[in-house]
Amino acid sequence: MPNVLAVAEQADGARFNRAAPGSDVRSSLLGRFREVRSFSLRLCETLSPEDYVVQSMPDVSPTKWHLAHTSWFFETFVLKVWMPRYRSEIPQYAYLFNSYYNAAGDMHRRDLRGLISRPTVAETFRFRTSIDQSVCELLENADDSLLAEIEPVLVLGLHHEQQHQELLVTDIKHVFAQNPLYPVFREAKEGEKAEVAAPHFVEFDEVTALIGHEGEDFSYDNEEPRHRELVPAFSLASRPITNGEYLAFIEADGYARSEFWLSLGWTTVNEQHWQAPLYWEKRDGKWWNFTLSGFRPINESEPVTHVSHFEADAYANWVGARLPTEFEWEHAANGLPMEGNFVDEERFHPRAAPPASGANGLQQMFGDVWEWTRSAYLPYPGYRVAPGALGEYNGKFMSNQMVLRGGSCATSQSHIRRTYRNFFQPEKRWQFTGIRLARDLA
Ligand SMILES: [Fe+2]
Repeated sequence: MPNVLAVAEQADGARFNRAAPGSDVRSSLLGRFREVRSFSLRLCETLSPEDYVVQSMPDVSPTKWHLAHTSWFFETFVLKVWMPRYRSEIPQYAYLFNSYYNAAGDMHRRDLRGLISRPTVAETFRFRTSIDQSVCELLENADDSLLAEIEPVLVLGLHHEQQHQELLVTDIKHVFAQNPLYPVFREAKEGEKAEVAAPHFVEFDEVTALIGHEGEDFSYDNEEPRHRELVPAFSLASRPITNGEYLAFIEADGYARSEFWLSLGWTTVNEQHWQAPLYWEKRDGKWWNFTLSGFRPINESEPVTHVSHFEADAYANWVGARLPTEFEWEHAANGLPMEGNFVDEERFHPRAAPPASGANGLQQMFGDVWEWTRSAYLPYPGYRVAPGALGEYNGKFMSNQMVLRGGSCATSQSHIRRTYRNFFQPEKRWQFTGIRLARDLA
């Protein structure tokens, strides 16, 4: 059983959506809950039962596990806390579907998730349905003060599910990429052959920038406290690096020239025998890549993706630039509309930059590809981990990871923010990760 008091305590300290005064909190929560939960199922529409079970590497979780784990989250942190008569139908699921919350009990090994053939896919769907019914019943019957208590954790659960929707997409891509039949997750959408204009660098004066989230709308705790950062004058590329531009780095022997690489990156390149981004393959002298729409020739206009931080950094060194800091990125994104190629479009692949537009000329800051920064994932000044199991959500990962910004073609539009801090170890490549360059302005 979770520590109920600790969960409630976390809810007090967290920052979440608050419905506007006078609005119908109940119907808003119910609608949002049903919408997010049903999108997870929509993502699975083209999958067969066999697809749901494969774990192609330790970082990847089977689709079935994502569907069950996100349900476990609502069971553990909502139903067991606020529905006194709730009883798990199968209590052992708590061990199988806890991910990393030590305060919520023991858990199954992450790297062995692909060995779990039971519960079956059908049983997993039944688990989801029963959780959905119980959560909806709880929300329908809660009085206003109980709703106010539940709301912050329920909203956190919905953002958690959206994070897992992104992982579900990137994980099934890795699973399908292992299959020589190259299964198609979704047919490609047309209109992706556009020529893109050469990038330019947008200049920013030195500023003491306010960094981090403030306000009543939802954010994770790692985006706070809002604080000041000195950001010296810099310039930022107007769009991410394309496949064609990255190809030039490959053809210039970039993967064989140690002078561009961080030491750990150089070790990794040699140990892993990297010669190109993940999912790229050279056939008869031409580069192809595996996409969620099958195996296709490289489109040189699209943003390069599935590169590690090491590759992004080496590319930047090769062209005499650098990666932006997360503070530069956040400052530059100030005032930009939250528009882009998100998972909502169901394209599941980055798109070539459209003709230049926008106030400061920056394009594709949101959506398409996560942008590696040169910032280590660290707590902001004054950050404190919240007590209880949900305090394990972000803070305990602030070691040996780099920050990424902006979201990708697998991120939900309603999930991303200008202040959102994603984080991965620098060698990871299976997320939709890309490169935007920055420069110092002396
Ligand atoms: Fe999770």
